Amino acid sequence: MKYIVTGGAGFIGGNYMHFAVNTYPEDQWICLDKLTYAGNLETLKPLEGKPNYHFVRGDIADREFIFSLFEKEKPDFVINFAAESHVDRSVTDPDIFVRTNVMGTVTLLDACRSFGIRRYHQVSTDEVYGDLPLDRPDLFFTEENQIKASSPYSASKASADLFVMAYHRTFGIPVTISRCSNNYGPYHFPEKLIPLVISRALKEEKIPVYGNGANVRDWLYVTDHCRAIDRIVREGRSGEVYNIGGHNERSNLEVVKTILHALGKPESLIEYVKDRPGHDQRYAMDPAKIERELHWEPEYSFDTGIPVTIDWYLKNREWWEHIISGEYQKYFEEQYKI
Ligand code: NAD
Ligand code: DAU
Repeated sequence: MKYIVTGGAGFIGGNYMHFAVNTYPEDQWICLDKLTYAGNLETLKPLEGKPNYHFVRGDIADREFIFSLFEKEKPDFVINFAAESHVDRSVTDPDIFVRTNVMGTVTLLDACRSFGIRRYHQVSTDEVYGDLPLDRPDLFFTEENQIKASSPYSASKASADLFVMAYHRTFGIPVTISRCSNNYGPYHFPEKLIPLVISRALKEEKIPVYGNGANVRDWLYVTDHCRAIDRIVREGRSGEVYNIGGHNERSNLEVVKTILHALGKPESLIEYVKDRPGHDQRYAMDPAKIERELHWEPEYSFDTGIPVTIDWYLKNREWWEHIISGEYQKYFEEQYKI
C-alpha cells in the first residue's frame, strides 16, 4: 500500500513517519511537506535511505502540484497532518491558517475525489469543541459535542473537519477524523509550552506563563497519538470521528513547575505575562469511543511521559538549539538551493 503523509516534517507528523516507516516496511511512505518554519528535515534524518520512504517538498494548497503528485503516485491512503498549528500565530496572522488548514484540506479532498482513495484521514484537534469551564471537572468532550471554535486556528481546523464530512456525504469519499488533546514528546517545536519551558529553563531564561497559569490542558505523549491514528486508519469506520486523549489534565502552572523541579531549576524563573486573547480555559477529552471500538489505550501517563521527554531534550540539544539559532533554515537553503 502507498501512503502520502502530509506535514511529516513537523512534530506529530515526524513522529508518525518514524513509527510508520519502521513498523510497516512493506508499505511505501511518502512524506509531503512544505517545510514552513515548523517543518524540519533534521527530524526525518534517521529515515533517509530507507527503501520504503521518500520525501517530497510541496504545498497542500497548491492544486496543480497536488494533482500531479496524485497522478504520479496514485496513493491508497492520505493522512493529513499538514497545518499551521500555533494558536498565538493565528491571532497575529489568521490568513495563512485559512489557506493551509482549509484550502489545503479541500485541495487534498478534491485530489482524492479525482484519483480515488481507500481512506483519507484528517488529523484534527480537541480545540474544535471550544473549551470547558474550570469549575466543571465532571465535563468532557465527546464526539457528539457541538463544534464551537474560539481562535482563528481552531476555526480553521473546524472548517476543515466540516469539509471532510461534507465530501464523505456528498461524494462518498471514505474518510475518518481524529481529534486529539495536547501532545508532547520528541521533536516538538520550541514555541509550544512544554519544549519552550524545557529549552528556556535549561538556559536559565524566564518562563512566560499566560494570565494566572490556571488554564488546563489534557496532555498525551506523542507516540500514543501516532498509535491511535494508525488504529483508526486501519480499523476505524469510514465517516466517523474519534476523540483521542488519556485523562492527563494539568494546569499550565503545574506543567511548568513539574518541569522546573525535574530540571532542578527555581520557580523564580516563572514570569506571568499578558494572557492570550480568547484563551481557552480547559480541554478534556472523553476517549471512550476509540477505547471501546478500536481497543486503543495510551502507554504513557503524564508522569511517565514527562521524564522521557526531558531526557530526549537533554540528549538532543543540537536539534532544538539549531532551531532556536535559526541554523536549520540555512540547512534547508543548502538542501533545496532556495
Ligand atoms: P507542526 O506545526 O509541528 O507541523 C506542521 C507541519 O506541516 C510542518 O512540517 C509544516 O512544514 C507542514 N506544513 C505547514 N503548512 C503546509 C502546507 N501548506 N503544505 C504542506 N505542509 C505544510 O504541527 P503539529 O503540532 O505536528 O500538528 C500536526 C497536526 O496535528 C496539525 O494538523 C494539528 O492541528 C494537529 N494537532 C496537533 C496537536 C498538538 O498538540 N501539537 C494536538 C492535536 C492535533
Ligand atoms: O489541544 C490541541 C492543541 O494543542 C493543538 O491543536 C495545537 O496545534 C497545539 O499548538 C496545542 O495548542 P495550545 O494552545 O493548547 O498549546 P500551547 O503549547 O501553545 O499552549 C499550551 C498552554 O500553555 C495554553 O494554555 C497557553 C499556555 N502558554 C503557552 C505558551 C507558548 C503559556 O502560558 N505560555 C507560553 O509561552
